[in-house]
Amino acid sequence: MAELDQKVAIVTGGARGIGRGCALALAEHGHAVALVDVLVPEMAKTKLEIEGLGVPCLTFEADVSDHARAKTVVAELLAAWGRIDVLINNAGRSMPIGIDEITEDQWDSAIDVNLKSCFNYIQAVVPTMRARGFGRIVSMSSLNAHSGGVTAAVSRFAYAAAKAGIVGMTRALAKELGPDIAVNCVCPGLIKTEITKNAVIREREPQLIEGIALKRCGTPQDVAGLVAYLATTEPNFITGQDITIDGFQWNR
Ligand SMILES: NC(=O)c1ccc[n+]([C@@H]2O[C@H](COP(=O)([O-])OP(=O)(O)OC[C@H]3O[C@@H](n4cnc5c(N)ncnc54)[C@H](O)[C@@H]3O)[C@@H](O)[C@H]2O)c1
Repeated sequence: MAELDQKVAIVTGGARGIGRGCALALAEHGHAVALVDVLVPEMAKTKLEIEGLGVPCLTFEADVSDHARAKTVVAELLAAWGRIDVLINNAGRSMPIGIDEITEDQWDSAIDVNLKSCFNYIQAVVPTMRARGFGRIVSMSSLNAHSGGVTAAVSRFAYAAAKAGIVGMTRALAKELGPDIAVNCVCPGLIKTEITKNAVIREREPQLIEGIALKRCGTPQDVAGLVAYLATTEPNFITGQDITIDGFQWNR
C-alpha cells in the first residue's frame, strides 16, 4: 500500500486512561493512530472516538511485554500505512507488593510490562524511523521513578525500578538515536484513571490533594497535552529528558 499522507503514531496501552488521552490528542493533531492493547472492547471504543475526529485508526491486540509480537505489530502497521513517525510507550501496570512478599515472577512481570515493553517497541520502530530520518518517541515513566512512591501506593519498589529504568534508557537512546529521532519520557504524579481511582484515590482524595500545590489530581488530558507537545511540536529542541507532570506533589 502507498504511504499515508499524514503522520502515523503508535500508542501502546491506548485503550483507556492516559493512553486513550494521548491517542485522542495525537488524532487532534492530525496523526493517524495505531492502538496496541490487551483490552479489545475498550480499544474498539477508543478507535471509534478517534475515527470520529476524522483520522484513521488501526487496533492491534498484543501484550506489550512480548518482544516477537512487537515486531509483527510494527510490520503489519508498515504494511498498512507505510510509515511510523511517533511512538508513545504508555502501557504499564502497577505492582503493589513489598520486598518481603514479591515473587520472582511478579518482579519479572513488573519489569516486562513497564520497561521491557518500551525496549520492544523502540527496537521495532527504530529501523523505519532511521530510514525516514524522523522519529519522536515518548515513554511513560512515573514520579515514582524519582520518589520511590509512598508505601501505601498501588505501586512499590519493582514498579519504581522499572519506571526509573525508562529514565536511564531515555537518556542513553537520545544520544544513540539523535539527531533525527528524539527520545523523551514523562513522569506523571497522581492522575485519575482506572489504575488509581479505586486503589489509591477513593475516599482519600481530599487528603491526597492537600499535598499537591495545584490542589487536584491530574487528568489523562493533562498528560496527553505534554506528550503531544513532545511528539508533534517542531522544532522543540527537547530530547533525553524526563519531564515531571504532578501539579507539584510535595508529599511524594
Ligand atoms: N495514573 C497514574 O497516576 C499514573 C502515574 C504515573 C505513571 N502512570 C503510567 O501511565 C501509564 C498509563 O496508566 P493509566 O493510569 O492510564 O492506567 P490504565 O490501567 O487506565 O491504562 C493502562 C492501559 O495499558 C494497557 N496494558 C496494561 N498492560 C498491558 C500489556 N501487558 N499489554 C498491552 N497493554 C497493556 C491496559 O489494558 C490499559 O489500557 C502506565 O504506564 C502507568 O504506569 C500512571
